[in-house]
Amino acid sequence: MSFLEAQSLDVRYGGIRAVRGVDIRVEEGETVALIGANGAGKSSMLNAIAGVLPHTGSVYFNDIDITRRPVFDRVKRGISMVPEGRGVFGRLTVEENLLMGAYLGNSQQEQDLDLTQMYEFFPRLKERRRQTGGTLSGGEQQMLAIGRALMSRPKLLLLDEPSMGLAPIMVEKIFEVIRGVSKTGVTILLVEQNARLALESSQRAYVMESGELSITGESKELLHSSQIRSSYLGEGN
Ligand SMILES: Nc1ncnc2c1ncn2[C@@H]1O[C@H](COP(=O)(O)OP(=O)(O)OP(=O)(O)O)[C@@H](O)[C@H]1O
Ligand SMILES: [Mg+2]
Repeated sequence: MSFLEAQSLDVRYGGIRAVRGVDIRVEEGETVALIGANGAGKSSMLNAIAGVLPHTGSVYFNDIDITRRPVFDRVKRGISMVPEGRGVFGRLTVEENLLMGAYLGNSQQEQDLDLTQMYEFFPRLKERRRQTGGTLSGGEQQMLAIGRALMSRPKLLLLDEPSMGLAPIMVEKIFEVIRGVSKTGVTILLVEQNARLALESSQRAYVMESGELSITGESKELLHSSQIRSSYLGEGN
């Protein structure tokens, strides 16, 4: 069994079936991209895996059926999500936001160690650690959201649109961080509008269309597929 396995995943919002019997698997240490048009169901998939959205079908993580496990239990087992729109607590300071990521009760000593590490990863957050989250720039908020997710020491990081609304230079920075996180051994499932960036930053990818998977394969190969190039990389044939 793969490190993460979702089987026949289904998400419904009232009458809308946003995810339609999707199977995905992610091996330990991989970065896997999930791309697709607006409304394809990518966030719904990620939220179902994180346990913040009701779904049917099964989710297995690290050989354990976590389908009926609540969010905190999934976090405890090593699944952490950076949600679309970042979800930074605007009135809390940067440091308080980071510590919220450690809410499952690592020891004080571990938290201090993790904070020090986050500040090494993101020197800009260190400079701004007493500033409130709401006063950070978009890029800084994205760093904070990633840092907060890392504070729970995840084995699997779910990233939803990390590049959204950011200037190219900040996107570059965020993806540098994501590659760095991957190098530390963290498995990543990456949802990203910027298909080129997603494919360049991952080993494998799934393409989602109207709640279903259409194409899947090695990211390198998908970058050269004519179908992907015309539909998702903005290149005409
Ligand atoms: N809370 C909700 N209530 C009703 N419908 C919803 C809700 N959230 C999402 N949907 C619908 O489910 C479908 C999938 O949405 P989802 O957010 O998963 O797509 P997405 O691929 O993440 O899109 P985007 O790229 O725009 O973020 C869409 O048709 C959307 O309108
Ligand atoms: Mg989305």
